[in-house]
Amino acid sequence: MVDTSIYIQQDGCYSSARQAVDPRGHMSQFRGHHHITLAVGGAQQDYDFHTKTLGLRSVKKTVIFAGSNEAYHLYYGDKVGTESQLITTFPLGSGGPRARAGSGHVTHLDLSVPVGSLGFWQERLTGAGIATTAMSRFGEDRLEFHHPCGAGYALVEVQDDRRCQWTSDEVSGAVAIRGTHAITVATNDLTETDFHMSVVMGFAATKTDGAFARYETGSGGTGALVDYELNTALGQRSWGLGVGAVHHTAFWLSDNNAEQQDAFKAHSEGTGYMDISERKDRNYFQSVYFRTPAGSLFEAAFSDPKGFLKDESPEQLGTTFQLPPWLEDRRAELMSKLEPINF
Ligand SMILES: [Fe+2]
Repeated sequence: MVDTSIYIQQDGCYSSARQAVDPRGHMSQFRGHHHITLAVGGAQQDYDFHTKTLGLRSVKKTVIFAGSNEAYHLYYGDKVGTESQLITTFPLGSGGPRARAGSGHVTHLDLSVPVGSLGFWQERLTGAGIATTAMSRFGEDRLEFHHPCGAGYALVEVQDDRRCQWTSDEVSGAVAIRGTHAITVATNDLTETDFHMSVVMGFAATKTDGAFARYETGSGGTGALVDYELNTALGQRSWGLGVGAVHHTAFWLSDNNAEQQDAFKAHSEGTGYMDISERKDRNYFQSVYFRTPAGSLFEAAFSDPKGFLKDESPEQLGTTFQLPPWLEDRRAELMSKLEPINF
């Protein structure tokens, strides 16, 4: 975990404070979300949407570590890139392949905001030319809208979320986003999904609201939620990288270490879910990826001890283009292939 004690002292809010013990008294395998990653269109459009419209901090600018490495990997979050506060994107360009919705599609990426702030956000998003829809689900007030690339987002008012915020002159602490809240996954079958969420991943099924079923991990609540929307008529969504959709959702391993990740992989395979990858070095964290019954791609991750501060200071975080040691000798080549961005 990142040492964020300086920020806890300064702000009286919490970083990396999520608990691993759930309300049932069980030790959960996951504390909550680690990061949520989307495939988007243009890099500049994505950067402006997250840092200007939504007011998040740029936490890291690097490239995708898979394939040819010829696309950015952009990270947005709080002051230090704390787990459960991270949104990351792969900008594939405006002409990139589009995602096809269906079972396994994340229809909405929900973010936590303070109670009473949705009026501010409705006005701000409308002013940016983004249409919004206000509604309630699970007793929570939510404002739904879309990223310019088409991906569904929502801001959800949450009481008592003490995660540290990134604030600015335009987005104060009274309204600023505090991190991830939930993902909503469309599924054409809940039976196998329920088994996977409960037995394989150790989540608790806690609530239903019409066609929606909520699962929680760790101490539960905001930042530790997966909601499924059942629609038996759905076909399968596309599985590859496609613009306009969440590509995968990463969950934070409770013990934050390789031993627990190995144990989770063995447990998944032992229960019959063999589609789980070997460990991948993501420089700032280590990951295994697995396909869920609904079709969504999930990830089980543990963080580097220094996290996103391993190559930039807290003050400079997200301001310079960073490459891992194994790609540093390709810096000029990769930079020449990336969309120039006015950061
Ligand atoms: Fe990831």
